[in-house]
Amino acid sequence: MNLETIQYNQDENGLVTLTLDDPQQSANTMRRQFVEDYIAVVDHIEVNKADISGVLITSAKPTFFAGGDLRELIAATPDDAPAFVEFSNRLKRAMRALETLGMPVVAAINGAALGGGLEIALACHYRVAMDNPSTRIGLPEVTLGLLPGGGGVVRTVRLLGVIEALTKVLIQGQQMRVADAKAVGLVDEIAADSDAMLSAGKAWIVANPKATQPWDARGYKMPGGTPTHPMLAANLPAIPATLRAQTKGAHYDAPHHIMSAAVEGASVDINRAFEIETRYFVDLVCHSPQAKNMTQAFFFDLQAINKGGSRPDGFERWSATRVAVLGAGMMGAGIAYQCARSGIDVVLKDVSLEAAEKGKAYSENLVTKAVKRGKLSQDKANAHLNRITPTDSYENLAGCDLVIEAVFESPDLKKQVFADTESVVAADALLCSNTSTLPITDLATGVSRPQDFIGLHFFSPVDKMPLVEIIVGKETSDAALAKAVDLVLQIGKTPIVVNDSRGFFTSRVIGGFVNEAMAMLTEGINPVMIERAGNQAGYPAPPLQLMDELTLTLPAKIMAQNRAGAEAAGVEYVPHPAETVVEQMLAAGRAGRSSGAGFYDYDESGQRQKLWPGLFEMFGIENDRHLQVDDEDLVKDMSERMLFGEAIETVKCFDEGVITSYADANIGSIFGIGFPPWTGGVAQYVDQYPGGTTGFVARCKELSDRYGDRFIAPASLVTKADGGEPFRPPGAG
Ligand code: NAI
Repeated sequence: MNLETIQYNQDENGLVTLTLDDPQQSANTMRRQFVEDYIAVVDHIEVNKADISGVLITSAKPTFFAGGDLRELIAATPDDAPAFVEFSNRLKRAMRALETLGMPVVAAINGAALGGGLEIALACHYRVAMDNPSTRIGLPEVTLGLLPGGGGVVRTVRLLGVIEALTKVLIQGQQMRVADAKAVGLVDEIAADSDAMLSAGKAWIVANPKATQPWDARGYKMPGGTPTHPMLAANLPAIPATLRAQTKGAHYDAPHHIMSAAVEGASVDINRAFEIETRYFVDLVCHSPQAKNMTQAFFFDLQAINKGGSRPDGFERWSATRVAVLGAGMMGAGIAYQCARSGIDVVLKDVSLEAAEKGKAYSENLVTKAVKRGKLSQDKANAHLNRITPTDSYENLAGCDLVIEAVFESPDLKKQVFADTESVVAADALLCSNTSTLPITDLATGVSRPQDFIGLHFFSPVDKMPLVEIIVGKETSDAALAKAVDLVLQIGKTPIVVNDSRGFFTSRVIGGFVNEAMAMLTEGINPVMIERAGNQAGYPAPPLQLMDELTLTLPAKIMAQNRAGAEAAGVEYVPHPAETVVEQMLAAGRAGRSSGAGFYDYDESGQRQKLWPGLFEMFGIENDRHLQVDDEDLVKDMSERMLFGEAIETVKCFDEGVITSYADANIGSIFGIGFPPWTGGVAQYVDQYPGGTTGFVARCKELSDRYGDRFIAPASLVTKADGGEPFRPPGAG
């Protein structure tokens, strides 16, 4: 057989090896040519089955198989639905044919098998995976707003049972390491290396000449029972309830469709189940804006960023070897942990050795937990900790090629520690500040090499939060920016690049969300409703709760700066209605969780209790007003005021050149400040709004008429809407 994407080899014993090897791509994907080849190969095997003893499927790439062709899926329109149905069904018919030929079929999983890759492997009778630490196995379609449409829902349900398949594989789209995939039951055997994997696969074929799938075996019973079984029937209602709790009432198409496909498919025969799966899959691909938003953000935008999207060209890839982390407080300790974890030697400096050691203890705590949970070997944990040297002396910073400063938020102190550090570290060391609010250009005046000075804005807690906002000062060179992007990628984080401006990008945009929520209090809206509107919009934390975490002193400072800035520029200052809320709360001694009181009450240990009842009196809120609202328009207005608040601020950031990459804006907003993932990010939100930019601008008009001038659409967006153009120009990064 001569095929473009699959190599066909038959040995003297009649064993056929199919090696997936797409010559056009670095990874195998489910593009049309592959599907045609797969169908052709199955036809061929069927015709020649008398001479074939079994089939082994493996790959010539470092990964096994990457999954669907997302370019094609994201471009699909409702008109394409029939074609997608046909495409899906043809592929599934071939997969079904292969597993019912009466000969053993084994997947030898040499590397990542995600999405379509795992679906190919699930249509085999036995899966042996090579013990490769970089391998990930799973069906992550849900994270892109999609569902596995190549039999993944049907086969995991039949293999594991409805509940297990939904919770362990489908609804969260877990990307598992080989051992975890084996524990779940997606993999049957683990082999030490490639040779062992191939021999194990072949041995299984020899030993099981009449292999069938469990669900085709006589007497098969679905694990956990079908939906008519009383046990499962009793448990089923809990699934949508759990899902609703996870998404806090925000509606996500993909998990909903996956759940439906799994449950409906479990009640019927397998061919009917495939049809049901196809119908839900095609509905997402062709009709769900969420699928497009999420695929754009979590695949294309994220991939562009991780390939160094906003990195200036022409500079060699750099990696840091030894970092001076200045300040071993909450942020410095987290930064030290993250750098050491990535193999960088860390000198962690604070004013006293004791304080520096306390910073290192943060890492000790995290690695100890990881060892206990079996996520990290003791050797690796020791190596990690050995890389961190706590110190109180600048001399120990000698030889560092990178400095990350995280001392108190004071310009004078920061300038002082840089002055003390600069003379000790390498002459070309990259100089970074983790300031959250201070202008980078001003801090750079404190060093002799402002071209090497840059902002690295980490988020708390550093080990969990995936984003780093890189801030380019006036004097920062492209070479320094390239190094900073390399560094962020080196430590396994996602970089976005922004220009120096008050609040940078993320802190400025998040204001659009929390300020709107606070403004609602002044309108007499019940705070319970405000929190609910935030949840329904899809924010991971409701706004007043979030505000308590961030503490109200920060917006108070920013508001004061804004006022001073306007006065200095001689323009009239129009305060946001949230300002009086901040002032009143601070005057009442309720700055947020860290001060023990905010919009919520807290117990002595800092646990959040309930919304502070005093809010009702403070803002003249009538107790029951709006609490029971089924006034959908009001709820929609509340959610959209939050989303528009952030989106309009983002448009302004583009207008002012604070941010220039749409991918960075999307990913920065989701990863850094919790913009709802279903939107595909804050820039995508504008384009995906019903009616596109025209619809968005029209909605701005409604909101500004009702709630104030801050919702007036920026002129640049009105121009785009008038010209029928999207916010993000086609092809823009
Ligand atoms: P922190 O108060 O927990 O830690 C600051 C540390 O700096 C303390 O351990 C202090 O002893 C040390 N320090 C003071 N003077 C020093 C000196 N001369 N040499 C060495 N160390 C010195 O503060 P945190 O929260 O870690 O913040 C640090 C920086 O990170 C600030 O600029 C802050 O704005 C910024 N940031 C904070 C975020 C947060 O969520 N807390 C998020 C992003 C940035």
